[in-house]
Amino acid sequence: VSLPAVQASALTSDLGYRSLKQYLLEWTGLAFYADKDDQLGEKIAKRLAALQLSSCAAYLNLLRDGAAGESELDELISDLTIGETHFFRFEEHFQALRRTIIPELIRRNAARRQIRIWSAGCSFGAEPYSLTVMLQREFASELAGWDVSVIGTDINRQFLARARQACFGEWALRGVDRHLREVCFEPSPLGHRLRDVYREGTSFQYHNLVKHPYPSLLYNLAAFDLILCRNVLIYFSRETIDQCAARFFSALVEGGWLLVGHAEMNPESFRAFRAVDLCGAMVFQRPPGDAPADPGAASTLAFTPAPLPPPEPPPLSWLPGPPPPPSPAATPGDTPATTTARIRELADRAAWTEAGQLCRTLIEADRLNPLGHFYQALVLEQMGQLREADVALNRVIYLDRSFVLAHYHRGLLLQKIEDLAGAARAFRNVLDLLTALEPDTMLAEGDGISASALRELAQMQLEVLEER
Ligand SMILES: C[S@@+](CC[C@H](N)C(=O)[O-])C[C@H]1O[C@@H](n2cnc3c(N)ncnc32)[C@H](O)[C@@H]1O
Repeated sequence: VSLPAVQASALTSDLGYRSLKQYLLEWTGLAFYADKDDQLGEKIAKRLAALQLSSCAAYLNLLRDGAAGESELDELISDLTIGETHFFRFEEHFQALRRTIIPELIRRNAARRQIRIWSAGCSFGAEPYSLTVMLQREFASELAGWDVSVIGTDINRQFLARARQACFGEWALRGVDRHLREVCFEPSPLGHRLRDVYREGTSFQYHNLVKHPYPSLLYNLAAFDLILCRNVLIYFSRETIDQCAARFFSALVEGGWLLVGHAEMNPESFRAFRAVDLCGAMVFQRPPGDAPADPGAASTLAFTPAPLPPPEPPPLSWLPGPPPPPSPAATPGDTPATTTARIRELADRAAWTEAGQLCRTLIEADRLNPLGHFYQALVLEQMGQLREADVALNRVIYLDRSFVLAHYHRGLLLQKIEDLAGAARAFRNVLDLLTALEPDTMLAEGDGISASALRELAQMQLEVLEER
């Protein structure tokens, strides 16, 4: 029996509308809709009609209902978010990148031969791919043999799926001249498809800038040299922008760069940064020194180490080699929790060598504690030593099979080394282990991630693997 569609105007006077609206604005950060009840009401009314629900309260109950709620939230978010984007958007930024920022990063990172870039709110991929195309075409010789990664994140899963397909229509290509089109794209039934070579090093992942943690080793969102978050913050409230600015600051290495849209240049929110005028665009740089306090830290970034179950004895032949050199950051009497906090701090600054030394200190202090091996794996991964990282993760799992984040990281790692079947197994292990946990359980070493959020991530990774 199909119920009559609820009119948008009637819907906004529904008693449950205010709570539903508050929930949606808090979840997405889209304060843009605060004074647009007609638009918001219309989008909600469409979903109510599709689901044959007759009230906002019933719809809110559904959104809060575990996996079904999450998938409905995705449906609604795909309608609420605005994905307007195109290649080489805002030419001044690309001039600033090619003339100053990228050459400066190449000089600064010459020793570690690595550049990490984050396109936050990447929509269906034109922004991260523009960066990859520019790097490949204009800096290929300087960056030969470097580990360059461009990570695109978004809250809209449909955009992310399109980004992974890398097929674009005319509108998204309006900033690309004919020559570049011919070199970089090939015709496909879905539009102009970016050739594989210009996609290398680019990856996409689900991430909500308002709800999910960053910097975060778990999400691989830390120690960036460059972050672009353009035309995303305009939809957020001033308070949310301040929180994002503080988190971007911490997710950058010292000297790292942040580019926001030119309509988002609110100097107050970005006062911790150095503002630099480059090629007619104002960009921000993280100066040396500590990160300022994060205004929203208590709500999403709380780090709660949980006690680990007693481990099985591992083979004693592990960890050959000399004892670790004393680390300048290690202080006698440190507890594992303070040491891991320090490892995270060092990792946030891309100080991989020092972080690695501290991991060895932790392992030497207690070889049976999976924590040291876990952090060592994360650090090795960031240093590009993927096989060694896998060995370390295997040790963690041997010591504690229920260390769910070790399985998750192993999945990511195996994906990188193209062992797709192994990666899928690892993500399925994550889902199995999570069935024993309440959705709200906060996971140890998870940057404040809950069991339900990790399940969502693991499911998404499995979907990505199925697409390949
Ligand atoms: C207008 S597009 C900008 C795309 C690209 N950065 C550019 O400038 O061309 C805004 C993007 O921000 C994403 N977005 C909105 N709220 C978000 C949130 N809370 N977390 C992550 N992404 C979000 C939207 O899904 C959309 O893809």
